[in-house]
Amino acid sequence: MEKEKDSYINQGTKNIAKPEELNFEELKNNNFKWTRKTLLSTKDLHIDEVEAIFHTAESLSEILTRKVKKVPALRGKVVINLFYEESTRTRSSFELAGKYLSSDVTNFSISTSSVKKGETLQDTAQTLIQMGADAVVIRHNVSGVPFQLAEYLPRNISIINAGDGSNEHPTQALLDLFTIRKHVPSLKNKKVVIVGDILHSRVARSNIWLLQKFGTDIHLCGPPPLLPESFKNYGVKVHWKLDDAIKDADVIMTLRLQRERQTTGLIPQLDEYHRLYCLSHERLKLAKKNVKVLHPGPINRGVEITSELADDTNYSLIADQVSNGVSIRMALLYLLIFASVDS
Ligand code: CP
Repeated sequence: MEKEKDSYINQGTKNIAKPEELNFEELKNNNFKWTRKTLLSTKDLHIDEVEAIFHTAESLSEILTRKVKKVPALRGKVVINLFYEESTRTRSSFELAGKYLSSDVTNFSISTSSVKKGETLQDTAQTLIQMGADAVVIRHNVSGVPFQLAEYLPRNISIINAGDGSNEHPTQALLDLFTIRKHVPSLKNKKVVIVGDILHSRVARSNIWLLQKFGTDIHLCGPPPLLPESFKNYGVKVHWKLDDAIKDADVIMTLRLQRERQTTGLIPQLDEYHRLYCLSHERLKLAKKNVKVLHPGPINRGVEITSELADDTNYSLIADQVSNGVSIRMALLYLLIFASVDS
């Protein structure tokens, strides 16, 4: 009996709306209809779209608890992971998300692809079209490349920005907010502090654009070379002292020092950075009692956050971020692939 319950055939889409049923009647705005085919930025995401992604992710997250983690929702669809830059979490979670929904997933990595032989982005796009891609997930170290790819691909192929240079990482911001909301259901006027190398952080930018839509009180903190005062123009508060920034915080998001994107001389010595900006249990006493701590990973343990705090699940949501990332990416693949270009 147990065996039958967990068989592939019986692991149907019981709790998952069929594509033609994606009318989100359960959401507050029940006139909302999903039409988006690509996700390049959080800037142009409407709140209704965010709620629809979260609603779908919540429903699909149940798959992760099953013995057989597979449903036929995307059977016959092709997802191509096109990663021109290293990734652990994003690439593998998109791969697993696609596989859990039964799509065919293939990974192009720069080190083994013809890009090494000088192939242009436009020719790579043509190859993706000829291979029958339904969705392309792209990461690139140069800002704007996913937007360029969108110019080369027809509108019926979904494109998902998996991080472009210092510009944006929209799926990370979505999984961050999805994770935060499980503990802080309303972000209105809540203090969220983003700490670290803001200048080079696509995660910070995508989070700022997304959190602003929910009325969040956003504070940024980092050393002056990595947090220019001009960030105030985005309608956020800027701090150069960590203790000032995290006072009464509801949520603190620490970021990795991105040494690979920095020109020389921008960062202080690591031990100085640790002394001034490393988040620890001691420093957390300044924040609200129930404060939650996030980090997009990969973590430089002992540089931006102490190992003890990163692993303390009373505060740290880092492990939840990883599993929620799979749910959010399943939801995005599902919604984007089934959106009609004519709708
Ligand atoms: N958070 C994040 O983008 O991690 P990866 O670089 O491992 O994908």
